[in-house]
Amino acid sequence: MAQGSRSAAVPAAASFFALLAVAAPLLLCCAPAAAELARLEHPPKDGGSLSLLVVGDWGRKGTFNQSRVAHQMGRVGEQLSIDFVISTGDNFYENGLTGTDDEAFEQSFTDIYTAKSLQKPWYLVLGNHDYRGDALAQLSPVLRKIDSRFICIKSFVVNAGSKIARVFFFDLD
Ligand SMILES: *[C@@H]1O[C@H](CO)[C@@H](O)[C@H](O)[C@H]1NC(C)=O
Repeated sequence: MAQGSRSAAVPAAASFFALLAVAAPLLLCCAPAAAELARLEHPPKDGGSLSLLVVGDWGRKGTFNQSRVAHQMGRVGEQLSIDFVISTGDNFYENGLTGTDDEAFEQSFTDIYTAKSLQKPWYLVLGNHDYRGDALAQLSPVLRKIDSRFICIKSFVVNAGSKIARVFFFDLD
């Protein structure tokens, strides 16, 4: 984690198609490619700290203990007072979504991560399982209308205060 970050918990392993980095601002000067990425602003807490959860490989309609992990994420999220959640991909098993009207979106996301502490922005990238289905559906703003937490962009940067953290999301597919 970057300097100034207070805490982070990692409930699940990262998807190997998503590459994630939290970099100190100093690093930014050396990453010209990042200049072309969409940038989102996420203000840190008043005290200048940031807490987040990172999860990957999760969408199982509650099975494979997804619901139990979600429950624990809710508890930890409450304790840490998290600011947002990062998903490193493989959001919907086995084969992504069939389209923006796929009920797996609600069954694996909206209806699972119901804890109050998890009602924060989720910044997501796609994994290889997501590409087996309609990848564009997950990138579509239509899903954000159904559940405003779901912020899935192909590659982007989340800027969490100039001196706290920048999170780079690179989709290498
Ligand atoms: C769910 O978690 C329990 C307890 O850790 C474990 O015994 C069980 O095998 C898990 N089930 C699945 C389907 O992974």
